[in-house]
Amino acid sequence: MDWGMQNRLAQLIQADGRCLFLPVDHGYFQGPIRQLECPRKTLEPLLPYTDAIFITRGVLRSCVDPHKTKPIILRVSGGTSMEGKNLAHEGITTSMEEALRLNACAVGISIFVGTDYEHDSLLNLAKLVDEGERYGVPVMAVTAVGRELEKREFPYLAMSCRIAAELGARVVKTYYCEKFEKVTGGCPVPVVIAGGPKVPTGYEVLKFVHDGIKRGAIGVNLGRNIWQDEYPVAMIRAIRAIIHENATPDQAQNLYDSVKGGKT
Ligand code: 5RP
Repeated sequence: MDWGMQNRLAQLIQADGRCLFLPVDHGYFQGPIRQLECPRKTLEPLLPYTDAIFITRGVLRSCVDPHKTKPIILRVSGGTSMEGKNLAHEGITTSMEEALRLNACAVGISIFVGTDYEHDSLLNLAKLVDEGERYGVPVMAVTAVGRELEKREFPYLAMSCRIAAELGARVVKTYYCEKFEKVTGGCPVPVVIAGGPKVPTGYEVLKFVHDGIKRGAIGVNLGRNIWQDEYPVAMIRAIRAIIHENATPDQAQNLYDSVKGGKT
């Protein structure tokens, strides 16, 4: 692996082999969703506890201080919206040249396996990997499900992750599911867990993050279940403790409670 590729990956995946990526890219097709109306306000208190942020170029330029940030994973696919007909009909929205200009450590793209746009999204991934490998920029593939949240199951996720890895993604982002060890076991590159829409309790998040790590994920790319929590800093610190300090869900919950109560 070339030095640039190694160096970028090392900035994203920490020395313990784990990572906590914070996505704030949701506006690229959902608009200003709850707690992400003002990305700068959402991001700033969370930055010290993240290893990297997943973000579009527009929000990066307008809401992130270039002197005070974390490694960037640049969202480079899009072109759809919640109002449109088909969320799977994404194209590449941002060039590799722009990613380099923004000093991105990686680029991220969604794939939509099993949809009418499966072929296009997979070829977009393959082309992006060709460019990324040319310039030493890792590609993170996102196994997207659009509105079909029920697809978040093994074996669909196992197939999507494996396809992403076969096409050259250096990291794959997918959802936690039952038999998650079969998803990670069938994917020869590191897997990170996304959260999806906010789940009813924070403890459930801590449990699935903990379980996902035990079953082979190297970390998370988790957004709404952090910044839509009532206490986002407490939540990110609890998740960080699971990822980087091997905390149990109960230990992480105790940390959450003490940060929330202003004790830590
Ligand atoms: C949005 C994304 C997000 O990065 C991904 O879904 C993770 O965020 P969340 O944990 O909120 O699902 O790809 O398009």
